[in-house]
Amino acid sequence: MTETNKAYDPLLRWIHWVTAVLFIMAMLIGLYCGLQPAGTSPRRELLEIHKSLGITLFLLALLRVVVRSRTTAPPAPATFGPLVRALSQLNHWALYALLLIMPVTGYMFSSAGGYSLRYFWTFSWPRMFAGDKAIAHAGEIAHDTLAYLVYLVVGLHIAATLWHAFIVKDETLARMWPRR
Ligand code: HEM
Ligand code: HEM
Repeated sequence: MTETNKAYDPLLRWIHWVTAVLFIMAMLIGLYCGLQPAGTSPRRELLEIHKSLGITLFLLALLRVVVRSRTTAPPAPATFGPLVRALSQLNHWALYALLLIMPVTGYMFSSAGGYSLRYFWTFSWPRMFAGDKAIAHAGEIAHDTLAYLVYLVVGLHIAATLWHAFIVKDETLARMWPRR
């Protein structure tokens, strides 16, 4: 077997790990901010970072979808039975969907609700839905509800990786690990 069909494309592997770090930061900051009363400090400042990370993740996800569609994923490890294969595919689809939907719903909420959209202390993103209360409400409800799915799907993803790396001891992690 060659290097290309044993692992994911090298660029895809790098995007995966940059995404993993930024996503977990955005998720934990979001979780903390959701527990703090609106308008208080440091919630206000942390939300600025949360939104900037979220928009960065969205741009990375678009790049990732292009790279993924133009490269071939390695076949599933031999240790994967049909059920594990189906569940891992479902988990990956859900992760891709959340990477695209979470930033969109967050943007709907902030753009229509008149909240800050400054990108890492620099420029502000345009407001496409300024003043539209229905969009602000739909964005807020969707973002806050899907947050539970984020915790579940990311939690299962990390737990499954640890299981394969330390208990089953197969090549699942190696397929995604960056190397020279
Ligand atoms: C992949 C990207 C993102 C993830 C994983 C994410 C995740 C989360 C999570 C887990 C929460 C906590 C929800 C709660 O406890 O109520 C949250 C809250 C929030 N997020 Fe995001 N988010 C992302 C992108 C964005 C973007 C791009 C924006 C805005 C442009 C945004 C705006 C907000 C706001 C304003 C809150 C506070 C909501 C509240 O307290 O009701 N998020 N986010
Ligand atoms: C410490 C955290 C993480 C670890 C250890 C990890 C590990 C892995 C591993 C080993 C794979 C390959 C699985 C296989 O080939 O069957 C993978 C795939 C994947 N991971 Fe993660 N991951 C982490 C965080 C994340 C996060 C936060 C996201 C996105 C929100 C994510 C999204 C994905 C996606 C979408 C795939 C499928 C790749 C594809 O088919 O294009 N991962 N991950």
